[in-house]
Amino acid sequence: MKKLYIETLGCAMNVRDSEHIIAELNKKENYTLTDNIKEADLIIINTCSVREKPVSKLFSELGSFKIKKKDGAKIGVAGCTASHLGKEIIKRAPYVDFVIGARNVSKITEVLDKKHAIEIDTSYDESTYEFEDYRSSKYKALINISIGCDKSCSFCIVPVTRGEEISIPSSLIINEVKRAVKNGAKEIVLLGQNVNNYGRRFSTNDNGAKNFTQLLKEVSKVEGVERIRFQSPHPLHMDDEFLEEFANNPKICKQIHVPLQSGSTKLLKEMKRGYSKEWFLNRCNKIRELVPDVAISTDIIVGFPGESEEDFKETMDVLEKVRFDTLFSFKYSPRPHTPAASYPNQVPSEIASRRLSTLQERHKEIQFEQMQKQVGRVVKVLFEDLRSDGKIAGRADDGRLVVVKGSEELLGEIKDVKITKAYLTQLEGEISGV
Ligand code: 5AD
Ligand code: SF4
Repeated sequence: MKKLYIETLGCAMNVRDSEHIIAELNKKENYTLTDNIKEADLIIINTCSVREKPVSKLFSELGSFKIKKKDGAKIGVAGCTASHLGKEIIKRAPYVDFVIGARNVSKITEVLDKKHAIEIDTSYDESTYEFEDYRSSKYKALINISIGCDKSCSFCIVPVTRGEEISIPSSLIINEVKRAVKNGAKEIVLLGQNVNNYGRRFSTNDNGAKNFTQLLKEVSKVEGVERIRFQSPHPLHMDDEFLEEFANNPKICKQIHVPLQSGSTKLLKEMKRGYSKEWFLNRCNKIRELVPDVAISTDIIVGFPGESEEDFKETMDVLEKVRFDTLFSFKYSPRPHTPAASYPNQVPSEIASRRLSTLQERHKEIQFEQMQKQVGRVVKVLFEDLRSDGKIAGRADDGRLVVVKGSEELLGEIKDVKITKAYLTQLEGEISGV
C-alpha cells in the first residue's frame, strides 16, 4: 500500500475535490491516507486562491514539504491556485512534480507519473463523471450539483479558476444522494459556487429538476435523507418560490448564507453583484418573517476600491438591520485577472483594517446576543464529534455548534436538546427527556 498525505485549504468545494482525489487514488493506485507527512509516498496540497493569503501559504507549505518528505516522495499541487498559476508554480518550486486544476481532479491518476505535468483546462467538463464514494464525514455527504460560476463579480477569481457554470443532471445527483444515504449519511450538503442558480446550463439533459427549488424537492423525497443544507447561494437567485420551499420543507435546515459583500448600492454595482441594498434587506426580512428561528450568515468585504466612509456606514447599517448570526469578513484583496484589481481609488490598507475591526467588533456583540437568545430553546442536533472529556458535539438544525454530556451511542443520532448555556460560538445543552 502506498501512502497519501493531503492538505486541504479553502471552501467546501475544495473539501469535496480532495475526497474525490482520495477516492481515485485509492481505487486505481492503491493509496491509503496518512497523517504523517514523513511516511507519505505522495503529498498533495489542494489550495484556494480567493484571497492572497492562502496563495502565500501554498509556497511556505511547499517549502516545508520539501524538507520533511521522504526520498522519492512526490509533491502535487491541486485546486484553484493550481488553475490560475499553472506552470508558475513549477517555476517557483521546481521540486513540485505536478499541478492539477480545480476542474480536473478526476484526471489525478493520469498526471501522477508525468514529471511536471500541468492539467488546468477549465473548459474540461467533468460534470457527468461518476463520483467516487470516499467521504471524510460519516453522517454528512457533500455533493456537487454544479461546477464553475458565470457571475463574474469584479473582485472574484473563481470564474477564472473554476470556469463556466455547468449544472450536473439531477438523475446523477439523486443517484449519488441514494448511495450516500445507503452508506450511512443523514445530512446532504448540496454544493455549488453559485448553488441556487442550479439549472443554468446542463452538460447533458435528463427529465429531472430544472431549477434549484425543484432539485431540493427531489432530494428531500429520497428515503433516508434527514437533513439538507446547501452552499453557497447568491442573494439574487433567492426568489419567493425558493424561499417558500426553504421555509416549508422540514428536511431543509434552517440555516442560510446570504452573502452581502457590501451594504452600499453604489459599490454593489461596481462589484457587479446584480442586487441593491434594498433587495438584500427585502430578502433577509422575508427569510426572517417566514422562518423566525433561522440563522443567517453572510460574507462582507471591506476596503473594496472606491469604498468611502459613507459606503462603509451603509454596510454597518445592514449589519444592524439583519443582525447576522455568523459573519465572514475580509479585507479586499486584489486578485490577478479580475477587473477590480485595476479599478482606481484602491483603499489604503490601514483604512480597510480599521473598518474590518469596527465591523468585527460590532458583530461580536450582535453574535453574543443572538446566541443568548438560544437559551431555553429545544433544538434538533445531529451528533458527530465524540470528545475525550465525556462530551459530544454536533450541529443544530440552524448550524450552531451544540455540546452535551454523552457517549458513543449518540454518534450519528439526531436528538432534541434543551439549550442551557450560550457562549460566543457554542451552546451547551441537555438531551430532552432524559
Ligand atoms: N478579496 C476579499 N475577499 C474576497 N472574497 C472573494 N474574493 C475576494 C477578494 N478579492 C470573499 C467574498 C466571497 C468569499 C468566499 O470570499 O466575500 O463571498
Ligand atoms: Fe465569485 Fe461572485 Fe461567483 Fe461567488 S457569485 S464565486 S463571488 S463570481
